[in-house]
Amino acid sequence: MEMDPLSAGSLPIDQLERYAKDLSELYRSEKEKTKELEAAYQKLQETKDLLVQSEKLAAIGRLATGVAHEILNPVNIISLRLQFLGMTEELSAPAKNSLAICKDQLNRIVEITKDLGRLSGTHKKHITMGDLNEVIGHVLTLAAPQFKEKDITTDVQYHPDLPLIALDRERIEQVIFNITSNAAATMADQETRILRIITKPAPSKDCVQVIISDTGTGIDQSDIYRIFDPFFTAKGSDLGAGLGFFISYSIVKDHGGRIWAENNEWGGASFFIDLPLVRDTNNQCS
Ligand SMILES: Nc1ncnc2c1ncn2[C@@H]1O[C@H](COP(=O)(O)OP(=O)(O)O)[C@@H](O)[C@H]1O
Ligand SMILES: [Mg+2]
Repeated sequence: MEMDPLSAGSLPIDQLERYAKDLSELYRSEKEKTKELEAAYQKLQETKDLLVQSEKLAAIGRLATGVAHEILNPVNIISLRLQFLGMTEELSAPAKNSLAICKDQLNRIVEITKDLGRLSGTHKKHITMGDLNEVIGHVLTLAAPQFKEKDITTDVQYHPDLPLIALDRERIEQVIFNITSNAAATMADQETRILRIITKPAPSKDCVQVIISDTGTGIDQSDIYRIFDPFFTAKGSDLGAGLGFFISYSIVKDHGGRIWAENNEWGGASFFIDLPLVRDTNNQCS
């Protein structure tokens, strides 16, 4: 006759122990399964977030190109009319001054609109195998007068054997330029002004990494992800459009890489960019 396991009173001790062991094993494996399920759920959630993010990007890009086109046409007409007004001889000095301000502001509209247009991802891509060290070097040469004027010391540590990577040179230059000019701006009122750039093979396989650190004000922890949102700017509306990092983020994503910010030991901010050696949807730096 089968024995009822619950009427333990009549069970021999070794059988009881076996039940206890079975139970604890069952418990352990259930716990592991729950953990696996939780990890799978987390991964699913992350993938969903990424998908939503890239769909959002694509939609914003389409909207931006349309808006950019619509804005640039009337802006061109206004610009021509202003030039025409500027040629009038009997203009008073204040009127000339007002014209100059209008022209400046129009240029700003054109720059912002061009930035927006670049978001579409429909521009021609020029992917070549390039040396990230050289790309950074080029940007630093261009920015050198700005750094000199602001009394910023650069400390550049290029990895000597950095592998070539597949990149759209002009766009990666744009990313580096945006990060370094943001860094220069945040260091303006600091006593120590150092910009440190390090390149090296990335911890993630088949990717290279560049870290750009400054001795600026650092980033509020609550903003550390938000700085990559479109139109996020802590500068006055006259100085920043808040598109720089959003565009940088889109460019790096488009290269299959990733970009993020952390505060550093100097109290300033550090920007990390991982870029894959080859462009391949399966080869994203993670
Ligand atoms: N190196 C930095 N240190 C601290 N904050 C920064 C740094 N770079 C950018 N930020 C913050 O991120 C915001 C967004 O930068 P960005 O997208 O380039 O737009 P913008 O420069 O037009 O404000 C900046 O306004 C600033 O608040
Ligand atoms: Mg900027």
